Amino acid sequence: MKKKILIHLLVILFVGICNVKAQSKAIDGSIIAPTPPMGWMTWNYFADNFNEKDIREMADAMVSSGMLKAGYDYLFIDDGWQGGRDNKNNIIPDPVKFPSGIKALADYVHSKGLKLGIYSDAAPLTCAGYTASLNFEEQDAKTFASWGIDYLKYDYCGAPDDMEIAKTRYKKMGDALRKSGRDIAFGICEWGDRKPWLWGAQVGGQLWRTTADVRDKWKSLKPAKNAKDLHGTGAGILDIVDYSMNYAAYAGPGHWNDMDMLVVGLYGKKGPSGALGGTGCTDTEYQSQMSLWTIMNSPLAATNDLRKMNAETKRILLNTEVIAINQDALGKQAVAKVNNEKWSVFVKPLSNGDFAVAILNRADNAQKANFSFAELGLTGNYEIRDLWQHKVIGKGKKWDGKVISHETKLFRLKKI
Ligand code: GLA
Repeated sequence: MKKKILIHLLVILFVGICNVKAQSKAIDGSIIAPTPPMGWMTWNYFADNFNEKDIREMADAMVSSGMLKAGYDYLFIDDGWQGGRDNKNNIIPDPVKFPSGIKALADYVHSKGLKLGIYSDAAPLTCAGYTASLNFEEQDAKTFASWGIDYLKYDYCGAPDDMEIAKTRYKKMGDALRKSGRDIAFGICEWGDRKPWLWGAQVGGQLWRTTADVRDKWKSLKPAKNAKDLHGTGAGILDIVDYSMNYAAYAGPGHWNDMDMLVVGLYGKKGPSGALGGTGCTDTEYQSQMSLWTIMNSPLAATNDLRKMNAETKRILLNTEVIAINQDALGKQAVAKVNNEKWSVFVKPLSNGDFAVAILNRADNAQKANFSFAELGLTGNYEIRDLWQHKVIGKGKKWDGKVISHETKLFRLKKI
């Protein structure tokens, strides 16, 4: 048993070293995506029904709502923008949805201080059946660069199951992006089915999805037998946390575990996240998603309608003390120090020596928590700041208090 654990640790260490070495660099030699990318993504609100007017409105809303100021600087266009290829095989946008073209849209988005993401797939067609990039990798990467694209989400629908083929296809696009003449961050989206945490950085990825698509619900109603099963049962917030916590060792500056979009503020009303039981969450659950995605260093891609957000949604998405944990320069993903049917407690070291601690009540009833910091591996005395209440709530060697069902407390501990 001990031998098995040792081998496992050595594999993690080796992959970690390889990933750091393999990190693809920006043109100026810096790391691309040194902290988890943040932004707003079209998919879970619009699905593939959007046009350039919607995107411009959302860009305006990213500025006026304070999202950009809080750090959400990517506007990610997902599936549904494509209009096929021209007579030179250049990929083109749908002329009805994007009559002014993507370059004009990118210019507009950039003029607002935002970056623009786009979407394709490692097969002939995308998940929603639009033109994709297989065998056109270099040509498409150059087109994206010429438009001023800053990020590519690269999906895997219609591609073979095999891991080696996936690695080859992703590397082909990763290399093409690096050769495109522009820094374009690369998001791998094969849903964790082929263990992308083992090879994602080596093929040029800055992030890789860890699970099936997020649905707007707390957890899968039928327990999933394994991660792949979530494609059928629908991945809720808790399911994604439970799988993604296993890959903490693989995340770091320039290579992140992507837990998929935030469903905060959707309330089960719209888009694909409403399928497979995605009838919506409570604000407590949305606040938990924000706390957990933050402490687990996931990219933060909101997907609600930014043009009309209620006060609770704004409070959750725009909490800059919470966002600072996600964007901390050390880039360490939190590790679960306690994990049982009732509680999950995560600890994440921060660059200034503080620790972030998240305490999630998994139970369907309120519970009294009583955790000593020593049992979380933190010796000594700490000042405890509650990042949702925005105030120091105590000092000492432990925290006890009530946590309501599905709530996550998020604290910053400072040694005293
Ligand atoms: C897949 C991805 C989603 C979204 C859709 C678009 O399901 O996992 O995030 O991009 O395709 O068709």
